[in-house]
Amino acid sequence: MIEFELNGKAVTSESAEDTPLLWVIRDELKLKGTKFGCGIAMCGACTVHIDGVAMRSCITPVGTVASKGVTTIEGLSSRAGKALQEAWVDEQVPQCGYCQSGQIMQAANLLENTPNPSDEQISDAMNGNLCRCMSYTRIRRAIKAAAGGEGA
Ligand code: FES
Ligand code: FES
Repeated sequence: MIEFELNGKAVTSESAEDTPLLWVIRDELKLKGTKFGCGIAMCGACTVHIDGVAMRSCITPVGTVASKGVTTIEGLSSRAGKALQEAWVDEQVPQCGYCQSGQIMQAANLLENTPNPSDEQISDAMNGNLCRCMSYTRIRRAIKAAAGGEGA
């Protein structure tokens, strides 16, 4: 049995330690906001925060998060996270929406560490989060709006 904190609440998993955290979050703990895209850390759809750091849950064995704090899109309540979610709505960022929770979790990690990122810093941080609907321009604009900038 593995114990950790999920969105501020203590949870336990009965899964084997090498089970991907993504499966535990979605199938065992029933939070469906975190998505499966590639399963090999190449798309970012499964991004969550582990002790405040954006990580790919598809390649994170649940055993490695024992006693740690995991945050998913459902629990993203930091100041940067809230600003991003508002900006996402204002800018109407999503198209199909599938990649977007991962995009927001990655962007939140960026703004929590770099409150006013440059274009280059946004590119570096968001580079590994793919969007097959090509919403990249709106993602960038929303990040800038959340950071207090004037948009891209
Ligand atoms: S599903 Fe984890 S990075 Fe693609
Ligand atoms: S909005 Fe469709 S994959 Fe990004």
